[in-house]
Amino acid sequence: MSATEQISIRVEPTQQSRLSQVDFNHLKFGQSMSDHMLVAEYADGKWQDVSIVPYGNISISPSMSALHYGQAIFEGIKAYKFADGTVSIFRPDKNWERFNKSAARLQMPEVPKEIFLDGLKQLLAVDQDWVPSVEGTSLYIRPFMFATEAALGVHPSVSYKFLIITCPVGAYYSKPISLKVETHYTRAAEGGVGFSKNAGNYALSLYPTQLANNEGYDQIMWTDALEHKYIEEAGTANLIFRIGDTIITPHGDTILHGVTRRTIMELAEKWGYKAEQRRVSVQELIDGIKAGKVTEAFAAGTAATITHIDRIGFEGTDYTLPPVEGREFSNKVLTYLNDLRYGKIEDPYGWNMLV
Ligand code: COI
Repeated sequence: MSATEQISIRVEPTQQSRLSQVDFNHLKFGQSMSDHMLVAEYADGKWQDVSIVPYGNISISPSMSALHYGQAIFEGIKAYKFADGTVSIFRPDKNWERFNKSAARLQMPEVPKEIFLDGLKQLLAVDQDWVPSVEGTSLYIRPFMFATEAALGVHPSVSYKFLIITCPVGAYYSKPISLKVETHYTRAAEGGVGFSKNAGNYALSLYPTQLANNEGYDQIMWTDALEHKYIEEAGTANLIFRIGDTIITPHGDTILHGVTRRTIMELAEKWGYKAEQRRVSVQELIDGIKAGKVTEAFAAGTAATITHIDRIGFEGTDYTLPPVEGREFSNKVLTYLNDLRYGKIEDPYGWNMLV
């Protein structure tokens, strides 16, 4: 543990819980923050001052480098409540690994397991009443880190803040979504930061997404930077298709290495489906839809979970996907993952980390 000495986490409980103010029957994504947050400071080459404190505003310098040069990364994880009240976090170890890959790419320090994973467990133990229990709801967990050095020179910051905030959520998308194939704007190029979960990847999606929204689409489908021929991901999640009898997800360094996507592809393989991670051209998809060979298409992500795609717009034409009810694989995966995450079935792969 290079940058860390013995880590102890100080807990300062809130004097006034806000839990009773939350309408758990009408949860809006990311709007009702739980009572506590974890905060850690990186300075003098090591992590220090790790604490769980009441959720609240933080003080920053106007010259803080993250605000100017974008050294900022984050994760999305979910925790669920079993019928017996047990709180379980879904595969947070994979998010921790990805977080540190994002950190390395942005020249930020590694966050040790003792802060990210053990700290998260402690935070959820304190805020366990915030984890909703109704099926379809969960506690969304947002770990993030940003550069705090107050200096305008372009160099890696010498100080960082790592925080974990959480909020009870319902579905990010409450119905199937439509996507417009983006053939002008670019999300990521080879050698860039497409695989990482950095804040800038989302900022750059806002303008083209708004243009797609103006044309009546919910989201964009990113294509490769070089030729705009190959499918990458949607603005808020990875993409998975069933073409013929194969479950396919676009793959490469320009695409976010999603934990939900990985889980679904692992299940496809375990269940004996043909599963491929490879380049998928827009033309292959459109030809497949026209020929009736694309039987399923969905977005996969922590927030999005599995969101069916019902329509794809490409070069002025709309292509309609088959009815959602008949989508055998994605509906089966969704049911299986829900059952696993809410503790209704055995967890053969050790994906649930109990708090
Ligand atoms: C997630 O799925 O956790 C994300 O971070 C996507 C975000 C756009 C909500």
